[in-house]
Amino acid sequence: EKKPYPICCLGAGYVGVPTMAVICEKNPDIKATVFDVDEKRIAAWKSENLPFYEPDLEDIIKAKRDKSLFFSTDAEKSINEADLIYICVGTPTKTTGIGAGMGTNLTYIESTARMIAKYSKTNKIIVEKSTVPVQTSSYLEKVLKANAQPNVTFEILSNPEFMAEGSAIRDLRKPDRVVIGGKDTESAQKAIEILKKIYCWVDDKQIVTTNLFSSELIKLTANAFLAQRVSSINAIAEVAEVTGANVHEIARGIGLDSRIGPKFLGAGIGFGGSCFQKDLFNLIYLCEWFNLKEVVAYWKQVVIMNDHQRKRFVMKILNKMFNNITSKKISVLGFAFKKDTSDTRESPAIYISDYLIKEGAHLSIYDPKATKETILRDLQALTPNVNLEKQVTVVSNAQDSIKESHAILILTDWDEFKELNLAETYKIMEKPAYIFDGRNVIDQKEARKIGFETYSVGTPLIYNSD
Ligand code: NAD
Ligand code: UDX
Repeated sequence: EKKPYPICCLGAGYVGVPTMAVICEKNPDIKATVFDVDEKRIAAWKSENLPFYEPDLEDIIKAKRDKSLFFSTDAEKSINEADLIYICVGTPTKTTGIGAGMGTNLTYIESTARMIAKYSKTNKIIVEKSTVPVQTSSYLEKVLKANAQPNVTFEILSNPEFMAEGSAIRDLRKPDRVVIGGKDTESAQKAIEILKKIYCWVDDKQIVTTNLFSSELIKLTANAFLAQRVSSINAIAEVAEVTGANVHEIARGIGLDSRIGPKFLGAGIGFGGSCFQKDLFNLIYLCEWFNLKEVVAYWKQVVIMNDHQRKRFVMKILNKMFNNITSKKISVLGFAFKKDTSDTRESPAIYISDYLIKEGAHLSIYDPKATKETILRDLQALTPNVNLEKQVTVVSNAQDSIKESHAILILTDWDEFKELNLAETYKIMEKPAYIFDGRNVIDQKEARKIGFETYSVGTPLIYNSD
């Protein structure tokens, strides 16, 4: 029997685990070990209670765990046994020091390089999958070389990940493309061929090979473009509201232009998630570093627009509710940054809730997947000195959140909110009853007929004024 090809993944997060799961699903002759420094996270991956919700992931884990997919806290063994090592650790925005709030914290990336160098007794292919500033691959190489054991060499490839949360498994099984960056040397080209073989289920035409720095910059560019589309449509939403146009009609009207395309034209409360803002800052900081002033200003505007969109939503709430929400029960439906995930990182719901807490509102929050602990931790992080217990409750169904509330805020596009029985909902609320739809979920006309006061981002004045 053929010995399985041993690979390893450093970082058992939203990217590392789904990626390894699908690689194992598609390659019966690969053995993958996922290593993480976080022992609790590894224990959770080995248990019945996985660390986060991602559709279809649990099924693959159950099928492959302890057969070809392993979870480990043993760095030396995981690294030394593997021929190819994926780096999937976090690359968050720096929070202190020079470049705080903008630059990328490369601590975790560098720690993986030092671990790999320390424990590798044979040659390895290193696959940089984390999203990094351009040229990080050459820094990785420097650290690896400077610390390598005698006669051990490393070939570095860049292989950014484009999956989105909530559809990670679908995206990995059927990616639009796979990007692989490497040097123009014989050994690098050989390594590229090995990595291509791992993506055996992806059509050759969809594999884009580039140099290392292009590959790194492709990732930042893709996220910058996607985030820019969201900010662009949100900017038009504001114009639509004051002119009597409807942003959703506009999205359809422009989206059918094949040069523009229909996706990522959903106006709402702005983008959230761990990637868009972080990667925009990564790009902006890189441009600042090279003193590209106009480029910096250009991309900064995407973030400014996103912040503005959240604040504008809150202003609409205050305006409609006579600038008085102190002590009023407000129902917050949805806290995750998008549907089908338990992830709340950089969710617009955090910032919108925080504004309302500062206005004295009593929030009753319901999300189908985000946990109470996560929600309270996110909110407490913004107001460390406020006793949240007085103002925030997290409930386990929409009904409890809505009951006796003055207003409903829809902050995540979960499917179950589309199915709300509006007539029944109206009956159990205080009057006037408001719905503020941040995700274009509710049928506004129907809600108005029932008696609700409504606001929905980017829809005509005629619905939004009383
Ligand atoms: P995550 O925070 O979920 O996971 C990162 C993991 O790395 C953590 O569990 C952490 O404990 C671990 N870690 C830190 N140092 C380590 C070390 N030295 N060795 C082993 N493990 C270590 O992060 P994520 O969301 O999976 O993102 C990982 C990378 O992928 C980031 O660069 C991100 O920008 C990029 N990315 C994320 C997404 C996404 O949707 N989340 C999509 C594409 C790319
Ligand atoms: C993103 C990229 O899509 C993915 O390719 C990359 O690998 C990681 O970053 P993710 O952040 O998981 O993925 O989710 P995505 O679907 O891109 O949504 C990001 C945010 O934008 C969400 O808050 C979503 O609600 C918002 N969004 C998206 C809109 O407001 N309107 C849209 O039309 C699309």
